[in-house]
Amino acid sequence: MTEKQNVPFLEVRDLVVHYTSEGKEIHAVNNVSLTIEKGQTLGLVGETGAGKTTIAKSILRILPEPPAHVDQGAILLEGRNLLELPAQEMQKIRGKRISMIFQDPMTALNPVMRVGEQIAEGVALHEKVSRAEAEKRAQEMLEMVGIPASRYRDYPHQFSGGMKQRVVIAMALACSPDILLADEPTTALDVTIQAQVLDIIKELQKKLNTAMIMITHDLGIVAEVCDHVAVIYAGEVVEFGNLEEIFDHPAHPYTIGLFGSLPDINSDVERLSPIAGMPPDPSNLPKGCAFSPRCPYATEECSRQKIGLDKIDGTHLCRCINRGKEE
Ligand SMILES: Nc1ncnc2c1ncn2[C@@H]1O[C@H](COP(=O)(O)OP(=O)(O)O)[C@@H](O)[C@H]1O
Ligand SMILES: [Mg+2]
Repeated sequence: MTEKQNVPFLEVRDLVVHYTSEGKEIHAVNNVSLTIEKGQTLGLVGETGAGKTTIAKSILRILPEPPAHVDQGAILLEGRNLLELPAQEMQKIRGKRISMIFQDPMTALNPVMRVGEQIAEGVALHEKVSRAEAEKRAQEMLEMVGIPASRYRDYPHQFSGGMKQRVVIAMALACSPDILLADEPTTALDVTIQAQVLDIIKELQKKLNTAMIMITHDLGIVAEVCDHVAVIYAGEVVEFGNLEEIFDHPAHPYTIGLFGSLPDINSDVERLSPIAGMPPDPSNLPKGCAFSPRCPYATEECSRQKIGLDKIDGTHLCRCINRGKEE
């Protein structure tokens, strides 16, 4: 038992995933390692195409294979490698121990099934409860996300976008999962609804002591809900740290580009600021640092070799050899 104390709750170790598309190999995730503890929230931040969704789908083992292929790595839940579990075992974990909220609520909801029944179905699948108990739990979950239980028999099309996403949250949390993967859960919603939905997620997370991976472009969301942040670029973690380390002492030129031009994290300008240039073609990644073609500090050395993720201090890690040299 004593050994177990050093095992992280969830660990993604050295994950490599590629897609095959039109004869090309798209290197979506390249040696990503992350850990998350119970009740904690890890933010994954980075531009579209950085590999964030692929990481989340790998954890839940819902990648479309093919075109996706996991080449390497382990997903360890309390030390047990999920990638090696038989499909049947994984089915028990999905929705029960780990669940996911997708960006677009409609992909998660069945349009021809009553919303309450969709929540109850998940409960009945994973827990030994009667039909009536599953229904009662579904009603409680609806109330918990601010939807009157009387709407149990409504269909998804009778709900607004924000309400649909609340239903999805209720579904994701109905079996009190240990880990919630929230993939841009508020991006499709109106700004006014975003804050409410985020509050619901935060509140339930706290109540249930759920660990969460929050995938977002929105630095305001990061500041509000995350304990740690991993900045993802071209399928790699380029910087990792706690909120203070990332917001107050960003170290990687990419992170500085993202966060640097933010005048104030409480201002309205909460989106990632655009950085000159484009992310590299994932089917033809640079040999050295993937950010070097866009980096104002890049030297010849940066494009020659892979750069390691080195410790700066505390929990702060950065993948850059020129960090601080320009000062
Ligand atoms: N089903 C797929 N087939 C081929 N390529 C894909 C597929 N899904 C994602 N990709 C590619 O993998 C890379 C990472 O995508 P994704 O994980 O969705 O990034 P993010 O969530 O950060 O936007 C991108 O280059 C994307 O085009
Ligand atoms: Mg995505």
